[in-house]
Amino acid sequence: TRKFKIAAIAGDGIGKEVLPEGLKVLEVAARRFGLDLEFTHFEWASCDYYLKTGTMMPDNWKEQLSGMDAIYFGAVGWPATVPDHISLWGSLLKFRREFDQYINLRPVRLFDGVPCPLANRKPGDIDFYVVRENTEGEYTNLGGIMFPGTEREMVIQESVFTRTGTDRVLKYAFELANSRKRKHLTVATKSNGIAISMPWWDGRADAIGKDYPDVATDKQHIDILTARFVLQPTRFDVVVASNLFGDILSDLGPACTGTIGLAPSGNLNPDRNFPSLFEPVHGSAPDIAGKGIANPIAQIWSGAMMLSFLADTPGVDGQRYREAHDAILAAIEQSLKDGPRTADLGGNANTVQVGDAIAQLLQG
Ligand code: NAD
Ligand code: IPM
Ligand code: MN
Repeated sequence: TRKFKIAAIAGDGIGKEVLPEGLKVLEVAARRFGLDLEFTHFEWASCDYYLKTGTMMPDNWKEQLSGMDAIYFGAVGWPATVPDHISLWGSLLKFRREFDQYINLRPVRLFDGVPCPLANRKPGDIDFYVVRENTEGEYTNLGGIMFPGTEREMVIQESVFTRTGTDRVLKYAFELANSRKRKHLTVATKSNGIAISMPWWDGRADAIGKDYPDVATDKQHIDILTARFVLQPTRFDVVVASNLFGDILSDLGPACTGTIGLAPSGNLNPDRNFPSLFEPVHGSAPDIAGKGIANPIAQIWSGAMMLSFLADTPGVDGQRYREAHDAILAAIEQSLKDGPRTADLGGNANTVQVGDAIAQLLQG
């Protein structure tokens, strides 16, 4: 079968601590299941590189990455030395846009053995996906500041909702909901306050939903939706949201299941004309970086998501990749039940110990 070429980019802060654990687990998976993965490491897309060179990435970054089948990413950002909008628009947000990774798929799951901050919730109760629009919406650099530095200072920050961009994320979410047992889709909106884009977004959801008669759709304003994540998390199956709303929901969801240190994501280009990118939902965590205590599970789970996406590559027999995905998930679950745990889960294990434990379980 075919070799998959994977770019490994650690980025900043705990990205440099959790990525090696993810790679360790992928290498064990590759050996056990006979996967053909070839990793190429890149030092750029990091604030260290920016401080050395004055840019986040070399001019030919796109050339260097375009031939890759996927990007396995840590986290980027070091606000103490580089403003976040510079580091993020110079790297991660560029990847999402230029590689047209228009779906950000972010599972939310309550695992056995993980203390849940919500009362009376047990493993299995919370199991849903946030499908986040990932290339447009509220994330733009359109606008400007007029009369800067004066009393008349005025800031305009535009949002962009295209029909193509909106329809494709809604369609993906309807398909996902349709493929699941409960067939339920929550559409995040704010059509009461955001008077132009959000009523239009709701209309597109109605239009796309016509093709999915079996999917029950529930539109909810983002304010009450966040409250229900906390109060009634069991009602969710698939949640589709604009870029910003999806960003917020995908930290809140994992927080409701114990820690954001578990939450993975796939920045997907479902059309497969560019590489997709797999990374933890969390960032570089400057407050704990350098201590070796970050939870590596979000990174490890993201690696499993990458295998499952690669498994569906047209023309490839993905069976072993799917098995590897399932085995990594099983090792994560087992380790959460009775293995070492990092501080965010109430334990005192370090990053490497958790990575080793999961690699060991996977090894069998
Ligand atoms: P963050 O996710 O980095 O950290 C938030 C909190 O969660 C911190 O207290 C941190 O210690 C904790 N945390 C995060 N990951 C953890 C893990 N694996 N194990 C244990 N605890 C963990 O968010 P922030 O502080 O808002 O952002 C820090 C930097 O990261 C900023 O530069 C930000 O722009 C960037 N960021 C990058 C990404 C990304 O690369 N995808 C995502 C979010 C934030
Ligand atoms: C995420 C992050 C990014 C986002 C930041 C770092 C730009 O929070 O991946 O969720 O807002 O998309
Ligand atoms: Mn975020």
